Amino acid sequence: MNNIKEELTKMLNKALKLEHAARIQYLTHAELVKGAGAEKIIERLKEIASDEQEHEEIFRELIGDYLGGKPTMGLAETFEAKDTKEILEVNLKGEKEAVDFYKRIYKKVVENKEHLQYEYETLEHGIRHVIMDEQEHIVELSLLLGL
Ligand SMILES: [Fe+2]
Ligand SMILES: [Fe+2]
Repeated sequence: MNNIKEELTKMLNKALKLEHAARIQYLTHAELVKGAGAEKIIERLKEIASDEQEHEEIFRELIGDYLGGKPTMGLAETFEAKDTKEILEVNLKGEKEAVDFYKRIYKKVVENKEHLQYEYETLEHGIRHVIMDEQEHIVELSLLLGL
């Protein structure tokens, strides 16, 4: 494994931990939403959780099949929230942090294109796809928050 592959494996494993945590957090928070309009919010949180599961699968495949690495089973930190507004806020913050970090991974991939002869397009596409989904999650959570 060359250095860039090792470095990307480390970064994508950190990203995979974020996805594991995000999925669990969304599914747990979905059970805590109560009151007027709850059903719509619960449905949206569960939809987002299933996107996060898709992201886990993308990252696992990139790590295992394209970088020759070992996908982690680890979990990043999860955050509690006391009501619906706080649930939406804490997850919005998480989505923004994910985008910030994934853009760093994306930049690293693009900068090392010539060292990723048989992997570049798949890595670039997979990571860009995930970033676009997270940006959609930011829009959806912002709308629910009335931002
Ligand atoms: Fe995600
Ligand atoms: Fe997300």
